[in-house]
Amino acid sequence: MLESIDDFKARVERAVSFLEGCLLEKPQIVLMLGTGLSAVADLITEPLTIPYKNIPGFPQSTVTSHAGNLVCGRLGGKAVAVLQGRFHFYEGYATRELTLPIRVLSLLGAETFVVSNAAGGLNPGFSSGTLMIIQDHLNFIPDNPLRGPNVDDWGPRFPDLSKTYDQALQEKTLTCALRLGLEHVRSGVYCAIPGPSLETPAETRYLRNCGADAVGMSTVPEVIVARHAGMKVLGISVVSNVNDPDNLQPIILEDIIAQTEKAAVNFERLLVEILKEI
Ligand code: HPA
Repeated sequence: MLESIDDFKARVERAVSFLEGCLLEKPQIVLMLGTGLSAVADLITEPLTIPYKNIPGFPQSTVTSHAGNLVCGRLGGKAVAVLQGRFHFYEGYATRELTLPIRVLSLLGAETFVVSNAAGGLNPGFSSGTLMIIQDHLNFIPDNPLRGPNVDDWGPRFPDLSKTYDQALQEKTLTCALRLGLEHVRSGVYCAIPGPSLETPAETRYLRNCGADAVGMSTVPEVIVARHAGMKVLGISVVSNVNDPDNLQPIILEDIIAQTEKAAVNFERLLVEILKEI
């Protein structure tokens, strides 16, 4: 059962007050790091690391491959708040609950949300290590973080998603990739599935036919909340494996992490370059 919206609002406000009391600077940009990508947080200068478990009201992480820390500081000359580790629908959280950190950081004044994930490639033109700039999404998670009474102070009842991913940020990302000489940077549609089971061959074929270029188990709920809160959104998927429905290979978490970590260097370079431009 979901807590009442008043209880949820009170929890959000507790987290906001706590962070207002300990952050030296208002974060401009929120970065959410996916599986195998959390090392980006090591690049932050003057970091203040706050474990999620110390933030009143925050959900607690259950996935061992994800560190659960909020790291605040400076990166690429910008005040950033890095969410090192996220919460997933498959862990049992409602999407309203798992998106609480984004709601809290939006209320602290952050204006831009940069989200990353490790994803399975569905576009046969992708390879392991492709960085996909998310241009649109499909929400196949059977929940919406805005379900239930709307908090009008937080955003509109029916937020428009016709331009979910900021066009200018996508273009800047492509320009940065070119400048850095990164070859495997593409654009595409990300599909969020509930998980935790991976896709069957028939589901892989279906998702591709639906227009998805990559598939994963995250990101879309957070993006919906960020847009509801009026934040600009940039999403980047790191393709760890490419799924061919006619010859589907086992998809194993250890391989996903290893492949994502290999691509993490390019991802980090791109991210730092983009932050300079935002
Ligand atoms: N499917 C779903 N989620 C994923 C995959 C995949 O193939 N790879 C990484 N995350």
